Amino acid sequence: MHRFTAETDEMARLCFEYATERLRMDPVPLDHPQSLADLTAAVGNTINAAGHDPELVMGWFRDVLAPACISADSPSFLSFIPVAPTKASQLFDVVVSSSAICASDWLEGAGAIYAENQALRWVADLAWMPAEAGGVFVSGGSAGNLSALVAARATVAERRTRPVRWRVALADQAHSSLVNTLRIMDVDALTVPTGPDDRLTGPALRAALDADPDSGSIFAVVATAGTTNTGTVDDLAAIVDVAHERGLWVHVDGAYGLAGLAAPSIRERFAGIELADSFVVDPHKWLFAPFDCAALVYRNPETARHVHAQMAPYLDSMRATEEWNPADYAYHLTRRARGLPFWFSLAVHGTDAYRDAVEKTLEIARDAARRIDAAPHLELLREPELTVVLWRRTGWTHDQYYEWSNAMLRDQRAFVMPTTLHGETILRAVYLNPESKPAVTDDIIASLA
Ligand SMILES: Cc1ncc(COP(=O)(O)O)c(C=O)c1O
Repeated sequence: MHRFTAETDEMARLCFEYATERLRMDPVPLDHPQSLADLTAAVGNTINAAGHDPELVMGWFRDVLAPACISADSPSFLSFIPVAPTKASQLFDVVVSSSAICASDWLEGAGAIYAENQALRWVADLAWMPAEAGGVFVSGGSAGNLSALVAARATVAERRTRPVRWRVALADQAHSSLVNTLRIMDVDALTVPTGPDDRLTGPALRAALDADPDSGSIFAVVATAGTTNTGTVDDLAAIVDVAHERGLWVHVDGAYGLAGLAAPSIRERFAGIELADSFVVDPHKWLFAPFDCAALVYRNPETARHVHAQMAPYLDSMRATEEWNPADYAYHLTRRARGLPFWFSLAVHGTDAYRDAVEKTLEIARDAARRIDAAPHLELLREPELTVVLWRRTGWTHDQYYEWSNAMLRDQRAFVMPTTLHGETILRAVYLNPESKPAVTDDIIASLA
């Protein structure tokens, strides 16, 4: 099982053939889920005491299981937040999986961490962060948000009397992972209302903090750079001003939108990020890396190390070196070198290619918005701030939107899910694939007639 035998050679052929075929698909098929009953009928129990022929197992995956997963990298996948990994990053993911690098600490993963940190540095530089800023690649925005707020609470707690309940101020548009984070941390929320444009502003934050009888229990403010529902960038500079006046930590959830820092045309919208205490941006969203890769950056990483570093006699040797231990900057210990596929692609293609690809997706989203706006049966609801496009099909009910969406997936035309905006069911498409063709949007428009 652990030696490279003739059987391994055969498995290598099967796996690499599949991987090459998948990587060559253009476009990637959308595919769709199957019911539990259908999957059971098609595959049944795959695990027994004696094992199976690899060809048979690969066949289950290739012919039944893989097509029962929607391809988030299909240019017709416009729901949730899609993914558009570069071929280089996907290929290098195979290399990372073929290695056994524990990238928790410099002792074990020096080479990988050295490279990962260069990719992190590029992200930190885009955000105009100081030279001492740093962090770690974690599994996603959720893991980044949680790790950052744990560091925030510990830092603020050092200079404050402990309240009965700690709280975090965040907008009503903050991502669901933050609600989860607060639940895990047993922390309450001061929810700050946003206006018609869904943006958290400095004045709204100031008013909410001023009106709050217990604002001394608040240790952090979370701003969002690219809300999931509408792609709205909060007023970061003003939020930082208000929060820092009061000694609050500012965490910016840029899981989706902070990738826009790579695009000169919108870069200035993120002004103020350079003063944040921490931020997260997911290369597995709009920076063209495969799942799962999120960059968590702290302005002063020492604050995070203080709370996240794990201490035990069996870890002492890991502490013998002064170099960077990524495990110290989030709630984990063992970690895959998940920043390496992103690093490899950045190193191979160069940062100009990333700038161009982010700009291209912005243009694709703007073009889609124009096409939708021009259709007499559709109403564009706002100009896309990033790459989220929102529109209404005149006269449709909630159920009609869902029926249409299900039919589009069933017919393999597009995966576009309705959302709710200020109480109304509408349609939402997120463009993240620089290779998306206008035909996808045109087909959606035609299908809505
Ligand atoms: C703004 C925002 N924050 C956080 C998350 C959670 O990130 P992840 O799914 O990588 O955990 C998302 C996911 O879409 C997001 O859009």
